Amino acid sequence: MTTPRPRALVTGASRGIGAAIARALAPTHDVLLGGRDARSLEALARELPGSAGPWVADLADPEGLARATADINRLDVLVHNAAVAEPGTIADSSLDAWQRVFAVNLFSAAELTRLLLPSLRRSRGHVVLINAGSGLQIKSHRGPYAASKYALRALAEALQAEEGPNGVRVTSVHPGPTDTELQRSAAERAGRAYRPEQFLRPESVAAVVLNAIRTPADATVSRAVID
Ligand SMILES: NC(=O)c1ccc[n+]([C@@H]2O[C@H](COP(=O)([O-])OP(=O)(O)OC[C@H]3O[C@@H](n4cnc5c(N)ncnc54)[C@H](OP(=O)(O)O)[C@@H]3O)[C@@H](O)[C@H]2O)c1
Repeated sequence: MTTPRPRALVTGASRGIGAAIARALAPTHDVLLGGRDARSLEALARELPGSAGPWVADLADPEGLARATADINRLDVLVHNAAVAEPGTIADSSLDAWQRVFAVNLFSAAELTRLLLPSLRRSRGHVVLINAGSGLQIKSHRGPYAASKYALRALAEALQAEEGPNGVRVTSVHPGPTDTELQRSAAERAGRAYRPEQFLRPESVAAVVLNAIRTPADATVSRAVID
């Protein structure tokens, strides 16, 4: 009997950094492509080697998460990549806005991790959390986003402390500004010209993630900062 290829779930795989991570993993992993739009995920799955397929779920809906993970009983790599970056400062963010940001950027990562931990413990798997520069030091005026990324770093460190002894590895990845839709729309909102060459490439962030996952099992890349 042949050993199945390792399996990875990447949230927010429909575009940007998540799609680049899915492409980087696909030659060696069967990748579940997370997102809300089945058609765009199916189109990406057709381009990838191995048995990649859509994993459709709205991360802001906790009951949907339970349904969407019910059939996953084998998992080696979980990449929490999806996020929303609402532009508001603390002065102009309503409680609703805080809740929208935290629902996707933090609560879904905690809940998805909890639901998939039995599989990750069995495989002595790896959880990668795509954070940001603002999860380490706050420079921009986006209070809720930055607070969610600080909390995501706390989640990563707590998970490493709790699950490291069970063989689960945890990596917190902190990219600088990267050429994706998120930056393009921020520039548009601010009325700034957008120059992709001034940003990191999503493929470069994906290469760092792949290196962390490929690191031999006796070592853990606990934090990767990308400038
Ligand atoms: N771009 C940057 O400059 C930068 C810098 C540092 C860190 N990061 C971090 O890198 C990660 C990816 O960023 P990106 O720039 O690639 O973002 P992006 O282009 O805006 O893509 C966001 C992804 O998240 C998914 N998503 C958003 N809300 C969702 C929800 N409720 N349920 C399910 N999926 C949802 C989107 O899927 P749909 O297709 O369903 O909308 C999309 O695939 C984020 O964690 C971000 O904070 C980005």
